[in-house]
Amino acid sequence: MPNTQIQIFDTTLRDGEQVPGCRLNTEEKIEIARELERLGVDVMEVGFPVSSPGDFESVKQISQIITESTVCGLTRAVQNDIEVAAEALEGAKRPRIHTGIGTSDSHVFNKLRTTREKVIERGVDAVKLAKKYVEDVEFYAEDAGRTDNEYLAKVIEAAIKAGATVVNIPDTTGYCLPSEYAEKIKYLKENVKGIDKAIISTHCHNDLGLATANSISGVQNGARQIECTINGIGERAGNASLEEVVMIMRKHHDLNFDTNINTKYLCEVSALVSAKMNMPVQANKAIVGSNAFAHSSGIHQDGVIKSRETYEIIDPEEVGALESSIVLTARSGRAALHYRAQKLGFELSREELDHYYKEFLNLADQQKVIQDQDLINMFTVAATG
Ligand code: KIV
Ligand code: ZN
Repeated sequence: MPNTQIQIFDTTLRDGEQVPGCRLNTEEKIEIARELERLGVDVMEVGFPVSSPGDFESVKQISQIITESTVCGLTRAVQNDIEVAAEALEGAKRPRIHTGIGTSDSHVFNKLRTTREKVIERGVDAVKLAKKYVEDVEFYAEDAGRTDNEYLAKVIEAAIKAGATVVNIPDTTGYCLPSEYAEKIKYLKENVKGIDKAIISTHCHNDLGLATANSISGVQNGARQIECTINGIGERAGNASLEEVVMIMRKHHDLNFDTNINTKYLCEVSALVSAKMNMPVQANKAIVGSNAFAHSSGIHQDGVIKSRETYEIIDPEEVGALESSIVLTARSGRAALHYRAQKLGFELSREELDHYYKEFLNLADQQKVIQDQDLINMFTVAATG
């Protein structure tokens, strides 16, 4: 049986860009959009056109440039939002309007101050209006994560009947457990009439650090699109991280999922987004962090030197990272010192290794990391002194 294809919907330029301090101008957005296209994202959500003239212009220009990925603009279930988004997307080869409304009690009764029935009506009207402009309409049920499943099923069924081709089930507040989110998607698969006419999409936020796990639970239970961002940037604690969900599906062959992502560009795109948005990537970030392929304890270094797979499940080349590094610290063992000495061109006998290892440990206790130059000094001073 061939693997199931999972669509990657990148929202770095919309949900990611909502982060304070991450605002980009049109030129910067275009540069990132081109890289996202080269990376192979199926859909890129590039803005919320009604929100500002700048965002409108960015969506408009990106629509004229991007040809391989679907270009998507966000709207509320508001007539003017949809009309403005349709205008911004006019030049797109593959346009998508992403419209929707809040469905949890908190959204229906506190934010929108309306009724559940009226929310369904507004959602349906929004989908029908969007459908007049584009064939590809995605509907989101904001705060679906905290919406009871029975009502959510009614909303989603009505949206599909109105013409939605993709239905997005956001865990807007990052509240769901993976088992709960899995159950939600399964419930919709089993209880929504016409569900097979639409693609179910995950959109998970990371408030409890569960965005990636929830997205994977979603696709294991019938979702076929994951919404995510580069480096996991996004509102508050961020969104599901693109590099994480993609590499999970690539490494776990048992899941039988494929994506169109060219993983060798992951580190490059991560660095570009980090630089343009002024958002440093934490050193221990999975896949793209600077320590993702660095080994520092003696036991791990010994294992990796003998065979990379002992402590590495990803070949750094697969994601475009620099080769694995052996960081020399006071926790490193003789194997790491011997290995690094060889790389620097010094062949040490057993006795020399024992001797230098003691010297190395004394120095390492005083310094956080031992650099190549420290070793060169140690070996050459000893040889000439
Ligand atoms: O988190 C969310 O619910 C969203 C929607 C607007 C799709 O970003
Ligand atoms: Zn979101």
